Amino acid sequence: MSKLASSRPAIELRNVSRRYTDPGGRSVGVQPTSLSVPQGEIHGIIGFSGAGKSTLLRLVNLLERPDAGEVIVHGDDLTRLSAAGLRQARHRIGMIFQHFNLLHNQTVADNVALPMRIAGADPARIRERVQVCLDFVGLAEKADVYPGRLSGGQKQRVAIARALAPEPHVLLADEPTSALDPRTTLDLLGVLANANRQFGVTILLVSHEMEVIRRLCHRVSVMEGGHIVEQLDIADGRIPEGSQLASWLSDFGAVGPAASPSPATDADEPTPRHFALEAAHA
Ligand SMILES: Nc1ncnc2c1ncn2[C@@H]1O[C@H](COP(=O)(O)OP(=O)(O)OP(=O)(O)O)[C@@H](O)[C@H]1O
Ligand SMILES: [Mg+2]
Repeated sequence: MSKLASSRPAIELRNVSRRYTDPGGRSVGVQPTSLSVPQGEIHGIIGFSGAGKSTLLRLVNLLERPDAGEVIVHGDDLTRLSAAGLRQARHRIGMIFQHFNLLHNQTVADNVALPMRIAGADPARIRERVQVCLDFVGLAEKADVYPGRLSGGQKQRVAIARALAPEPHVLLADEPTSALDPRTTLDLLGVLANANRQFGVTILLVSHEMEVIRRLCHRVSVMEGGHIVEQLDIADGRIPEGSQLASWLSDFGAVGPAASPSPATDADEPTPRHFALEAAHA
């Protein structure tokens, strides 16, 4: 990580906030918060429902506009860009969602091509990228199929191919495996780890599944009440003892693979099995 750490961060949120008032008059959403994610890192965001995870993620590509603070992605303060500049910057920020968000009346290849088409990319370049990215996610033979004929895991692979096609620097993932079964979740985590390794894409991933965070991420930010309350290095796949996260997990009976609904609780499996790391740190 030393080479990566010395370069400028891929994502920097400086004192950003995005506040809403709930029906009881309380301020919710994201309270003034800062986050710096180095290039090449896979960074997790975990927290209870309503902690502000999705709002924070959506601030990074300005799907949510902050009411204060700066959002700097690869050196550009997105809040200061013109509409055209922001459109351009967003092409380098891919996003995947829990429910895939594919267009069902378009083929897999057309879905993957869509963001590049919207950006007015050269058709030959689009064809090339669609092929490369479908190959990458292992779905080259499904190019002409419609999404309705794919499994959930295959749909999420298409969504990953679509996000990667414009060669993003940053990939935002909001609960990308929450709609998938444990085995498919593991497959998908492998795809994301490979994307990080092969393309160097920085990944910011929201999940409430500790196993997902533990297997994939180098660091994790813990959110509560709209703030990042703790940031932990989990590059060895272990949650530091004494951390707030460890105590939450212990309270909820979910520390470690034996107690969690982990997709990989096989008795002969060494723990932690943090397959993303060799890849990401190679
Ligand atoms: N557009 C909005 N209008 C009003 N309140 C909102 C809006 N978006 C989010 N909130 C509120 O902000 C808080 C944080 O929401 P957010 O969706 O970021 O939480 P989360 O951590 O992603 O939760 P979950 O794990 O359930 O997805 C919640 O109280 C939510 O009701
Ligand atoms: Mg959410």
